[in-house]
Amino acid sequence: MRALWVVLLFTGCVKAIPGGKAMEENPIVQTGAPVLRAVAQDVPPERINTPEFQKLISHMVETMRAAPGVGLAAPQIGVPWRVLVLEDREELMASLTGQERAERERVTVPVRVFINPTLTPIGEDKVTFFEGCLSVAGFAGLVERFHEVEVTGLDEHGQPQTWRVKGWPARILQHEVDHLGGTLYIDRMWTRSFGTLSQVKARFGGKPIAQVQQELGFTK
Ligand code: CO
Repeated sequence: MRALWVVLLFTGCVKAIPGGKAMEENPIVQTGAPVLRAVAQDVPPERINTPEFQKLISHMVETMRAAPGVGLAAPQIGVPWRVLVLEDREELMASLTGQERAERERVTVPVRVFINPTLTPIGEDKVTFFEGCLSVAGFAGLVERFHEVEVTGLDEHGQPQTWRVKGWPARILQHEVDHLGGTLYIDRMWTRSFGTLSQVKARFGGKPIAQVQQELGFTK
């Protein structure tokens, strides 16, 4: 297993081009790849503090930032282990209006790493917004998610951690934990809302979510 992900990490990401320069390729695997549909395995805790595993975490954070995205699960870079990273930054929400941010409860989140996470919904409240995925590049769809969740797991040092959170970070966590079970948002989306990112932005950017849902004819 270790040899597998080392190979996946350090080959195939850089392509030689004429002139001897290296060009970075997008290392994020796209829907259709079996690894995105597999159930990822727990990481043996004794692996976490090894240099190889720490490199995996760094690579995941760098890949998420370069994309850019607000979350990444290890299967998305071809590694079938239960690891996710997330981070939300001001510049990633700069195109949202104040109302859009408030409705989504979108807030900046420093880098968090969860290894072998378990997610538990808190309460029954659900919220529906457009969501995309780096492994379904260029598209978005409306997805209903729990408003609040609690996630337990290990951090990047192998220490137990629990995070109870609402709003957009709760959505990110549900999306990334889904990846670890081989589920993509397209399995959960309201299919008639599915569209390209450019279509979705042009049609619905800046609009209150109630209006978006009404225009699409979305009903629970
Ligand atoms: Co995704």
